[in-house]
Amino acid sequence: MEKNCQELNLRKVAMIGCGFVGSASAFALMQSGLFSEMVLIDADMDRADGEAMDIRHGLPFERPMKIYAGDYDDIVDAAIIIITAGANQKPDETRLDLVHKNVAILRNIIPEISKRGCQGILLIVSNPVDILTYAALKISGFPENRVIGSGTVLDTSRLKYEIGEYLGVDSRSVHAFIIGEHGDSEIAAWSSANVSGVPLRNFYEMRGRHKYEKAAERIADTVKNSAYEIIAKKKATYYGIAMSVRRICEAIVRDEKSILPISSRMHGEYGIDDVVLSMPAIVGKDGLESLVPIDLDEKEQRNLKESADTLKEVLADIDC
Ligand code: NAD
Ligand code: LAC
Repeated sequence: MEKNCQELNLRKVAMIGCGFVGSASAFALMQSGLFSEMVLIDADMDRADGEAMDIRHGLPFERPMKIYAGDYDDIVDAAIIIITAGANQKPDETRLDLVHKNVAILRNIIPEISKRGCQGILLIVSNPVDILTYAALKISGFPENRVIGSGTVLDTSRLKYEIGEYLGVDSRSVHAFIIGEHGDSEIAAWSSANVSGVPLRNFYEMRGRHKYEKAAERIADTVKNSAYEIIAKKKATYYGIAMSVRRICEAIVRDEKSILPISSRMHGEYGIDDVVLSMPAIVGKDGLESLVPIDLDEKEQRNLKESADTLKEVLADIDC
């Protein structure tokens, strides 16, 4: 029996890190109605307290819940523990540049969770998210289904938005994934992309868009560079990821079995092993249920392998 092991409160969420991403995510979760209790933790305790106060002042417009700044003893029974603590990118940095700073932060946080025998799902958001999810898995010793990263859920949302705008169609009717690293080596899985079952290329023609390859390249570049562009203009990204966090929590809390490109450990799929990256996966009350092996063409498979190799090189440089 693990120490302090308590029954899970399925309506309780914990947010560790209350900077731009943590506070925006907490705000999105407050409005979601998914939880009845939310604990906020930050190394800067005043920050956590201030955010909790500010967010709970919106409660009379939403459904009642408890929102408070707490410590690690308060999160033992949380169903989902979200980690957004850590440095964010400065305009001249990539996500991978953050690895040493943020792995060090994770080494402080994860033992606080594992030594209390928390049974909830760890949702890693801090960057580089694939590397940190791998590190969290190793440091925590938790089962793999309970340690997931937000992965390319955000990039996929950006992709759907861009395709929807270009084709003049509701982005919710667009089915397409960004896979691989949440970062510079990510891949747009065009070969499986469709709009409500109509292959993307056919839908382009239908909408009078005849330069499919050129448009695909432009859209994939826009998606890949979105974070750099936003960070250059306003220092950080947080609303898009906040909605992604909300969506992942929704799939878990409501046991939706939704297919989302979260990051998880690979076990030989597409010839890739022992690295965390994003592939579409079924997400429900136990976290990751199983990967969904979408068809990839040769180029996509090659690029996915290269993305995995990029991540493996970084992993080789950290001690996990
Ligand atoms: P931020 O600097 O605004 O906030 C980080 C917070 O972490 C600060 O409040 C800081 O006090 C806190 N913190 C640092 N060490 C801590 C510790 N040991 N325990 C508890 N709290 C600690 O940064 P941000 O803009 O909120 O970004 C946070 C992270 O999220 C970054 O790594 C960023 O790159 C990442 N991010 C990820 C995605 C994604 O899609 N995965 C999207 C946006 C941002
Ligand atoms: C994003 C962060 C910076 O907005 O990872 O993609």
